[in-house]
Amino acid sequence: MDMIKFKINGLHFSVGCEVSSDVTLLDYLRNYLQLRGTKYMCREGGCGACIVSVHQPAGTSYAVNSCLMLVTSCHGLEITTIEGLGNRLLQKTLADENGTQCGYCTPAWVMSMYSLLQGNPNISMLNVEKSLSSNICRCTGYRPILQAFKKFASDAPRQITLPDIENLKLCNKTEETCDKSNCEDSEWCFVDLPADK
Ligand code: FES
Ligand code: FES
Repeated sequence: MDMIKFKINGLHFSVGCEVSSDVTLLDYLRNYLQLRGTKYMCREGGCGACIVSVHQPAGTSYAVNSCLMLVTSCHGLEITTIEGLGNRLLQKTLADENGTQCGYCTPAWVMSMYSLLQGNPNISMLNVEKSLSSNICRCTGYRPILQAFKKFASDAPRQITLPDIENLKLCNKTEETCDKSNCEDSEWCFVDLPADK
């Protein structure tokens, strides 16, 4: 075989001896095709910032750390990057649920979730929680990210309303959540409740 052929975002590409055999899929996307939506940090499979979605002709879809995959090993694969998603539903849901701040990790979270849904559109909330453990976010925190993506689970309630951690007020005596109702100490207790309580 003198050419490696694959698809990226629906377009045909091929590489031959003009591309060194140690070029990763990550570097091929960013440096050869100028698809900079796929990010990187560690380049060793630890951070997940470089995740793209891969579809095999046999029908299986999965997320791949593009920093660990050589472009010469992509023969026959259909690869989707963040630029190739058909709509922005995942991105919008993530933003609406405050699941992104600096945004550096966001494309990879979206591609992980996209891969998961491609593999199984009927995932459960537990599947979401267990399957997205390979992405690191250093500024948002994982709760809003998972909360956003659990909306795509088949067993998701219509509205997931977890209280914000800053609004949780715990009683010093019972260590339960406090709203100052039905409490014999409410006259003097100075647990600082939100203004609308
Ligand atoms: S750059 Fe960190 S996993 Fe690929
Ligand atoms: S939003 Fe900044 S690292 Fe995740």
